[in-house]
Amino acid sequence: MTGNITFTMIKPKAMENGNMGKIIAQIIEGGFKIKALKLTTLTKEQAMEFYAVHKERPFYDGLTDFMSSGPIVAAILEKENAIKAYRDFIGATNPADAAEGTIRANYGTSIEANAVHGSDSDENAQIEAGFFFSKREWV
Ligand code: CMP
Repeated sequence: MTGNITFTMIKPKAMENGNMGKIIAQIIEGGFKIKALKLTTLTKEQAMEFYAVHKERPFYDGLTDFMSSGPIVAAILEKENAIKAYRDFIGATNPADAAEGTIRANYGTSIEANAVHGSDSDENAQIEAGFFFSKREWV
């Protein structure tokens, strides 16, 4: 059975470029219900913990530097078959490969600064949501 919850972050470059509101609007217009939302800044250590699954990858240090370089928005989203629906909606990891009109095509500037993160499995969505939100903070 596939779950109805995914987790997303709006990354620092998209925030710096003034695209927070437009990205949230696109998410809502795409039929995703916002269950929890917060603006915060990750420390380097928190970014390393969040992306620990990538710790052996050559881009890990740069990615975690970038993700702790400024404010982000973290959110829990609900939609039927949320993981796949949101991954299709945001587009390919590399904005250069993302389908026209997707969030990453619209607002991503590099594979690292690809505008938004999206969970890759139901299990990771729960872990990632729990990284930022207590159950009390879900509507
Ligand atoms: P995200 O969905 O946040 O999950 C892991 C992130 O690692 C991914 O988006 C990209 O921003 C980043 N990433 C993946 N592959 C590369 C790469 N080859 N070089 C730099 N960053 C990458």
